[in-house]
Amino acid sequence: MTRKTLNRRDFLRLLAYGSAALVGGGILNACSPEDIAAGTALAPTDASAGAAGAVDVEIALRAAPSEVQILPGTPTRVWQYQAELLKGPADTLVPLENTYLGPIINLQNGQRVRVRFTNELSEESIVHWHGLHVPVEADGHPRLVIKPGETYIYEFTVDDRAGTYWYHPHPHGRTGPQAYYGLAGLLLIHDEEEQALNLPSGDYDVPLVLQDRTFDSNNQLVYGGNGMMDQMMGFLGDTMLVNGQKDFTLAASTRPYRLRLHNGSNSRIYKLAWEDSTPMTVIATTGGLLEKPAQREYITLAPAQRVDVWVDFSGRQVGEQLRLVSLPSAAPDGGAFPVATVRFEREESVSQPLPERLSTIVWHNPAEAVNGNAPRSFTLMMGMGRGWTINGRTFEMTAVAQDEIVKLGDLEAWEFYNRLGGGMGMGGGMALPHPMHVHGLQFQVIEREIDPAGRADWETLKDGYVDEGWLDTVLVMPGERVKILLKFEDFTGLYLYHCHNLEHEDTGMMRNYRVDA
Ligand code: C2O
Ligand code: CU
Ligand code: CU
Repeated sequence: MTRKTLNRRDFLRLLAYGSAALVGGGILNACSPEDIAAGTALAPTDASAGAAGAVDVEIALRAAPSEVQILPGTPTRVWQYQAELLKGPADTLVPLENTYLGPIINLQNGQRVRVRFTNELSEESIVHWHGLHVPVEADGHPRLVIKPGETYIYEFTVDDRAGTYWYHPHPHGRTGPQAYYGLAGLLLIHDEEEQALNLPSGDYDVPLVLQDRTFDSNNQLVYGGNGMMDQMMGFLGDTMLVNGQKDFTLAASTRPYRLRLHNGSNSRIYKLAWEDSTPMTVIATTGGLLEKPAQREYITLAPAQRVDVWVDFSGRQVGEQLRLVSLPSAAPDGGAFPVATVRFEREESVSQPLPERLSTIVWHNPAEAVNGNAPRSFTLMMGMGRGWTINGRTFEMTAVAQDEIVKLGDLEAWEFYNRLGGGMGMGGGMALPHPMHVHGLQFQVIEREIDPAGRADWETLKDGYVDEGWLDTVLVMPGERVKILLKFEDFTGLYLYHCHNLEHEDTGMMRNYRVDA
């Protein structure tokens, strides 16, 4: 992994395109955990509207400064989610070892959950349950941030398909740095349909959270060192971490595994493949299991995306190893680099075939969309003096435009269009990939189209898209149009849609949409 590949010409173009608003923005300006001493002794005050009904699971979660050993020598100061189980099954919380990542939270579909989140940082924060279908009060919108020392109470009923989800901070303008300094964790949903499949579980169900970081000579995390460049491009680190560890190696048995690959990076896009060209077998996307396994030569994994991969290591030789790599692509800084190593340490012979059918999906019917032939369209581009925009707009805390209001119960078609050609009709402008995320639901991709000028770059990643499952985040490459179907069910109120390149999001590439009754 080398440093930025944005060339000088691109950079000058960016300058010309008026990132003026960002120059003095300071969003990325230094703010390291060391400036931010712990405020641990503060008394929690209940800041939310949590009711006091009976729940199946209750968790006390805190965000606090901490230290972990990542590199040899000085420990790294980080921020970390830490949790305590107040009520519920003992395996609800599974801490990961030697990492800043928060514990894995295991939930069953149908469970009633309460989380008491206490902010022990010295700046505002709020937690978002990425991918979950929850009421607005439980969605972690930035307007709900709490101050240091305060507590926010979330209550929701799990109503999601079995799969790999995650939780992370969502304060406006500070999601990037807070996630970067360590605030993130996986949330796994389980249900009976999945249990019945007898997929690899326990030690053979392994999460791999992919993140890139940059360290200074004293082993401390560096963020925002490239100022405006980082804001425009998104942060790209020079060191690969998996589950918070450098040179991650999985000591494996020669048997089938389920690997839950999660791109927890701020902006890096991975093109994941087995080094020996074994095909990747995908069994789940961000909204849970596919109908049947899907094969790919490589998987394109954009920020916030997850795929579950089934892999059979039977027949591998003890002592051998196999690397998971990221192949070269047109993604920013898209050189080849190793991601993780699997080392075969134990001979096992287990026959656990992968079922041909994984789940039943009741798809949305495009013909039933209220706006089927005229999708609500969102153009992504560099705005004059305003950084990245959606339909020419940037984030406003509570504002929604007329074309951002939808109706409860409606099925809609939306289109994200990543327009080449820069802002304000100026030709030849800068375009970057945008992983677009919609809160509160999982959607279905129904169509993709690429402008001829974007085709060459697109070709380097498009075969790794996994569009045959539910998604909450979809990659939209420069020149690409992606049409999706979404249904607004159960909850009204203010949700978000945004680019999940966290630097783009923090600098305003985010908007509210409102579900009206
Ligand atoms: Cu994972 Cu609005 O975010
Ligand atoms: Cu989200
Ligand atoms: Cu973006």
